[in-house]
Amino acid sequence: MLYTMSCHFVTLGFSPGCGATCQCACASSIPASVPQFTNSPTMIVLVGLPARGKTYISKKLTRYLNWIGVPTKVFNVGQYRREAVRSYSNFEFFRPDNEEAMKIRKACALSALKDVSAYFTQDHGQVAVFDATNTTRERREVILSFAKEYGYKVFFVESICDDPEIIAENIKQVKLSSPDYVNCDKDEAVADFLKRIECYKVTYVPLDDDCDRNLSYIKIFNVGSRYLVNRVQDHIQSRIVYYLMNIHVTPRTIYLCRHGESDLNLLGRIGGDSGLSSRGNKFAAALGKYIRSQCIPDLKIWTSHMKRTIQTAEAVGVPYEQWKALNEIDAGVCEEMTYEEIQEHYPEEFALRDQDKYRYRYPKGESYEDLVHRLEPVIMELERQENVLVVCHQAVMRCLLAYFLDKSADELPYLKCPLHTVLKLTPVAYGCKVESVFLNVEAVNTHRDRPVVSVNTHAQTHTETGLW
Ligand SMILES: *[C@@H]1O[C@H](CO)[C@@H](O)[C@H](O)[C@H]1NC(C)=O
Ligand SMILES: *[C@@H]1O[C@H](CO)[C@@H](O)[C@H](O)[C@H]1NC(C)=O
Ligand SMILES: [Mg+2]
Repeated sequence: MLYTMSCHFVTLGFSPGCGATCQCACASSIPASVPQFTNSPTMIVLVGLPARGKTYISKKLTRYLNWIGVPTKVFNVGQYRREAVRSYSNFEFFRPDNEEAMKIRKACALSALKDVSAYFTQDHGQVAVFDATNTTRERREVILSFAKEYGYKVFFVESICDDPEIIAENIKQVKLSSPDYVNCDKDEAVADFLKRIECYKVTYVPLDDDCDRNLSYIKIFNVGSRYLVNRVQDHIQSRIVYYLMNIHVTPRTIYLCRHGESDLNLLGRIGGDSGLSSRGNKFAAALGKYIRSQCIPDLKIWTSHMKRTIQTAEAVGVPYEQWKALNEIDAGVCEEMTYEEIQEHYPEEFALRDQDKYRYRYPKGESYEDLVHRLEPVIMELERQENVLVVCHQAVMRCLLAYFLDKSADELPYLKCPLHTVLKLTPVAYGCKVESVFLNVEAVNTHRDRPVVSVNTHAQTHTETGLW
């Protein structure tokens, strides 16, 4: 995920839209968006020339917002265009004087907008990320008046980049694999793409300090070397700004693993704060060897405050930092019990947990949902850092992994994070590559599969629990 951002962005030049013509542009009849309610839905609108990382930013931001529990979806106008015009021939399509194509592009934008409003009303979405080029003021005004009519807030994210190397890298990383260029010679594809960018440059008007002073936006210069933030309207917009200002695109690797097998793991008991079993110690030694073999520059190691992660990190033999936020999920009254004991002592709790494992909160303990909130600062710091090894716990590792792999709240509590296995995460294109490395030290299996309850019986169990 991080490579590609190094691939995005360009041209900060002054556009003819400002200066002399500013007066009339400012006098536009479209007022700034007026929020009807504090919690009305938000449209995030990407602005910028092609190959400036708009899709990268859209996908990454959407993954973050969904992970923190804000339902968010990307609407990629380019995809609508590809569906409307099945076979792309060349850049001519994007010439501003191609009227036929302009009509198609406008129709695509309108049908994307229609889908945005369906997403807010029917699917309970809260944020729609509108991933399109939207380089002219006129086009932005279409969006603003649409949003005004429906009472949506609008926040623009403009990516500006004038570093040709960053742009070339982006074209290579993501554009050449685009459906527009299948079976196409690489050099020809690059040349066509550069011409496509030129087509947009003709009409591109960046957000302007003066003319657009009433709009809410962030401008990102050269992949985050500088930012300009204007009129943040609410909590969600400030969260977005905060997130965008913390991410970077330097290639790096994140290693996730659990502590070595603990004494309580051997007994099949959850939680507690026991030390490592003898196999757990063997894993710790193997982990040290593996990490040294990777020769990772400036590796940081993080553990929780619990004995089993600290003992594991000790064996690696390099300095590490302890985070209380990385402590295992608090199982409350069920701490140090086996699943059989929980089933016996708290049968209703056990059943409730199986029904909605993500939201279920142990009595006097935590839920996975609580854990995600507790881990948000850890994720933000991971975004800021480069190479990091996180030695943590099963539930904690599931939450972190769900963030990187874009897994839903429903899948999250069942992600497989076995003991004595390191997951190596490397950013690629728009996502993240995972390699699973088992270090050859046997351990107990602590994974419980999702119980086999079909969707139909779900409603049934609900009424049953209602009787308790
Ligand atoms: C936003 O940009 C896309 C891509 O160029 C374009 O097709 C669309 O018409 C623009 N949106 C609006 C509402 O004009
Ligand atoms: C910004 O809003 C103010 C107050 O509503 C208005 O007077 C002004 O004309 C607006 N400026 C622009 C550039 O739209
Ligand atoms: Mg894109």
